[in-house]
Amino acid sequence: MKIKGIKKLTGEIRVPGDKSISHRAVIFGALSKGETIVNNILLSEDTLKTIKCFEEMGIKFDIDKNSNRVKINGNGLYGLREPKKPLDCGNSGTTMRLLSGVLVGQKFKSTLVGDSSLSKRPMDRIIIPLSKMGGKIKGIDNKFPPLEIEPTDKLKGIVYELPVASAQVKSAILLASIYSNEESKVIEKIITRDHTERMLEYFKKSNFNGTELYIPGDISSAAFFIVAATIIKDSQIVLKDVGVNETRTGIIDVLRQMGARIEVKNLRLVNNEPMGDIYVSHAPLKGINVNREIMGRIIDEIPILAVAAAFAEGTTVIRGAEELKYKESNRIEAIANELRKMSVDITPLSDGLIVNGGKRLTTAELYSHKDHRIAMALSIAALATEGESEVIDSQWVNISYPDFYNIIL
Ligand code: S3P
Repeated sequence: MKIKGIKKLTGEIRVPGDKSISHRAVIFGALSKGETIVNNILLSEDTLKTIKCFEEMGIKFDIDKNSNRVKINGNGLYGLREPKKPLDCGNSGTTMRLLSGVLVGQKFKSTLVGDSSLSKRPMDRIIIPLSKMGGKIKGIDNKFPPLEIEPTDKLKGIVYELPVASAQVKSAILLASIYSNEESKVIEKIITRDHTERMLEYFKKSNFNGTELYIPGDISSAAFFIVAATIIKDSQIVLKDVGVNETRTGIIDVLRQMGARIEVKNLRLVNNEPMGDIYVSHAPLKGINVNREIMGRIIDEIPILAVAAAFAEGTTVIRGAEELKYKESNRIEAIANELRKMSVDITPLSDGLIVNGGKRLTTAELYSHKDHRIAMALSIAALATEGESEVIDSQWVNISYPDFYNIIL
């Protein structure tokens, strides 16, 4: 995709529904009895994979792509049927890890497979706690997909302190615990997104009967425009109806500390999730230190934060972000290598990045590393740089934001 620098970004933008919450709505809808209607759901490659997996297990979905609405004909907690073939999670770590939690509690066997990126991502982090609960789940070298799951008689409760800050691991345990008679407890030293807990509470209220949900806009998608409007002069935008759950708003806190002008208005709660409108106008930024404590609240936004840091005066140091090496690509290496092509002074660390910002960026031919968030972060860097750059393999944006280029071009 070729992207020309622009002079300013203005207007109202609606980002698609939150990816994490969309996955969870599909899972809980499928496990409830009767019809669940999910409004403003994200229909991207990742979430469609979760839907497809449940279709393989006999759940009927009525998908309306024009209105981003899905009707799920749930079959209850024990209503899934044995899939006839391996369940394909594609590029989606959330699909594989959360479904593992559901599948260890079923009376049938199943196999979970992924694409070449997902096949290299660590699954021992779920295999270990789910096995401790009595789940029968195996991977290659006990670590990598495909995952083979055998039926278990009984799942036990577990008290588990997360060795890595991961909402996906926490969620896998919580989902498995639905199928156990004993109580489980997950302890996290670093806060991670709590969408599973919130949705579990919401569905418990209806006693796991069909219900209706509205998925707030994805703050991780909004983050690209929040940064774009901040770094491009004379910009002023409003992002409507975005999820502003505190476990996800680290990017707003960090950018504000750097000097950004961001306001959240019209705050309200939809099916247990906070949502608001985000107002952003251009502001000069200064470099800061970003540490481990906030990492769980900003983990997916580090690539776009690195772009903001490139436009900030002074040095930004990001530490405690080693988890970035295990995402859809090694995001530390990927963003450092690509921004360097634009003349950014950026150094990868084993657990983060050092960015000496404030110098003019140059146009370049950039590579997405087959990673949606790297593609979008680089596209915003290009949008804020005079002249024309190109992002190769930009179609990976389809993983989380199929409409992205229709908004910026
Ligand atoms: C997600 C959790 C995060 C995040 C991913 C989505 C989720 O992963 O990076 O994009 O929906 O629970 P980890 O929990 O593995 O850090």
